Amino acid sequence: MSIRIGVQSRLFSLETKHTLYQMKADEMDVLLHTWYGPRTDTDMSYRIRTVNRGFCGNLFEAQNRVDYSLDTLPQEFSGNGTGDYRSAALQAESKNGSRSVDWRYAGYRLLKGKAKPAGLPGLRGNEDTEGLEIILEDRAGGLTAYLLYWLFEEYDVIARSARIENRGKEDVFLTKAASLCMDFPYGRKDVMHFQGRHAMERIPERMKVPAGGRLAFESRRGMSSHQNNPFIILCDPDTTERQGLCHGFMLMYSGNHLEEVSEDQTGSTRVTCGIHPEGFRWKLAPGESFQTPEAILSCSTEGLNALSRNYHRIIRDEVIAPRWHGAKKPVLVNSWEACYFDFDAEKLLKIARSAVELGMEMLVLDDGWFGHRDDDTNSLGDWFCNETKLGCSLKELSERIHDTGLQFGLWLEPEMISPDSDLYRAHPEWALADPGRGPMVARHQLVLDMGRTEVRDYLFETISGLLRNARIEYVKWDFNRSVANIWSQSLPEDCQGEAAHRFMLGTYSLLERLTEAFPDVMIEGCSGGGGRFDAGMLYYCPQIWCSDDTDAVERLEIQKGTSYGYPICTMGAHVSACPNHQTGRTVPLETRGVVAQAGTFGYELDPAKLTEAEKETVKTQIAGFHRFEELIAQGDYYRLDETEADYISWMTVSPDRGEALVSIVATHVRANGLFPYVRLQGLDPDRIYFREDTGEELSGAALMYGGITLPPFTGDYPARQIYLQRRQEDPADEA
Ligand code: DGJ
Repeated sequence: MSIRIGVQSRLFSLETKHTLYQMKADEMDVLLHTWYGPRTDTDMSYRIRTVNRGFCGNLFEAQNRVDYSLDTLPQEFSGNGTGDYRSAALQAESKNGSRSVDWRYAGYRLLKGKAKPAGLPGLRGNEDTEGLEIILEDRAGGLTAYLLYWLFEEYDVIARSARIENRGKEDVFLTKAASLCMDFPYGRKDVMHFQGRHAMERIPERMKVPAGGRLAFESRRGMSSHQNNPFIILCDPDTTERQGLCHGFMLMYSGNHLEEVSEDQTGSTRVTCGIHPEGFRWKLAPGESFQTPEAILSCSTEGLNALSRNYHRIIRDEVIAPRWHGAKKPVLVNSWEACYFDFDAEKLLKIARSAVELGMEMLVLDDGWFGHRDDDTNSLGDWFCNETKLGCSLKELSERIHDTGLQFGLWLEPEMISPDSDLYRAHPEWALADPGRGPMVARHQLVLDMGRTEVRDYLFETISGLLRNARIEYVKWDFNRSVANIWSQSLPEDCQGEAAHRFMLGTYSLLERLTEAFPDVMIEGCSGGGGRFDAGMLYYCPQIWCSDDTDAVERLEIQKGTSYGYPICTMGAHVSACPNHQTGRTVPLETRGVVAQAGTFGYELDPAKLTEAEKETVKTQIAGFHRFEELIAQGDYYRLDETEADYISWMTVSPDRGEALVSIVATHVRANGLFPYVRLQGLDPDRIYFREDTGEELSGAALMYGGITLPPFTGDYPARQIYLQRRQEDPADEA
């Protein structure tokens, strides 16, 4: 039984394979958070101690208990204005101006059969998935919170969210509605977050949670953002890749988000995670409810690599649509860096013909095929083929591309509108803009008001028309600016604080309709690279373009950072031309291939321009990719870095530990260099593995504890791939 409820003790224990999540309603009906960590088979409330800390007020009904304060107790879903001066999970304004929310336990319900949060993506689950709903009431204000917990036992994952209902008689405005709050009362903590900027996304940073201070990781850009991914890890100071306690908090949401991590006066660490409260004000009329996005929680005692693998597995199995589970993805060539806006059908066909000769499987026509678009100043919204530029219709082009032997993919940026477009001339009111103010323009474009039904209907009809008319197997769904001027003509004054979230709900609903209508069209998410790389988008798009930085050396860091939360099979990664268009750096073609293979693998160059020798290398690369693609996409991924090494290394191991592929890329080559040395992980210690490049036969234990060694690296950014296969004639195989 994975959910245990002590009816008398009002203790709720949620057990996954290795973890226990626990909370308890106390004598004041306050729901205390007692534990999230390894399984203990114990009522963990024994750890809760109370003492009068001074300047910590007491609940009215606890007047004489000066030690009983919401300011110091670990809470499951903190309210506001009740003497807990730490971050609130929920803030609201009542009609009478009161801002207090005082949650008290009011009951629970066991759930079976996972439901998706209304209007939002969520972990899929099935009819057997077990869940728990805890009911909290704000007795004076009329709000009820339904805290939802869904268990994914085998994955060591819990999906948590909240639904807030107004059961009072007056309107209430929610001004903050986090998906969760969690207190860790003992021990200093480190936090890792994944930060960056355009073309340099998800760079990991680890820091101590400051005593008495608060850290905020956030996006207020109307998108999950290049700057801060909606994923953080809280860990013990001695946690490493290979060992130690760590907790992950991943918000399944693609809009404004906030993750707060603070340490209070008692040394207790609080995490909150949810929609960003800035600018958020959601009107709840009596009887209405608000659903927060789901947060995917996981915990491991075996270090960061193990935590990442929990996320990799759950995303592969329960976020990505079943249609794409284990699906082989085509090796594609994308036209963007091959020709930017400068193409016609003949040029594309030339690319296609050389691509097919080298073994590529799909041509993706990127930006510039519609309206009168020859640069980025116009035509977004006019999703009609520029036949004058192409020299034929999109249908004809798609058929001619198929005739070469390739599949065909198309770029779109549905949520945007150019001021210079027929769509804008017909419907200027469809763009987000504050009344009386010129809307902020970015990349010469405005943002559509996705909260409006007629906007979504227009996009659905137009995109469906394209997909029905031409032979299109893939769509690249781009999003090339941050959102501003979040004001919608379709909302009344007192609901303008809903516009940003309604924008996201609108995008999700359009994606939902399109993926239902065209389940076999694969959508690759994109936002100027990885500006919307999150579990919300992955629900609709099985892969996301990782970054506009295609330099292989830079990609090492970007893809490594991304791997903390997201599996390799979701990371769009391509071999591009050198000197690289973003950095000007030249990296060997072989190394570019090894790096792109730590992702979905494809090309971002004009294959017709390669030399004969390069073409041979590409052929070998593609054959090599096919040899290992299942292992790479479905295997268990491990970051292998040795401290202060001049190389970055990783490996994937097949689920049965029968084979493994190790990749090592040198980032700094030195004269009289040291021997590269990498200790492997995830192998069977008691079995013998054949190392293909040297012919050695070594035990899994030797490879994991003794490691593999290589001669010193020479040259610019050399890379090695080492394939290992478990020896077949082992007695265990024969049995
Ligand atoms: C940004 C994307 O990340 C690029 O790959 C390319 O599609 C451009 N947009 C096109 O405008």
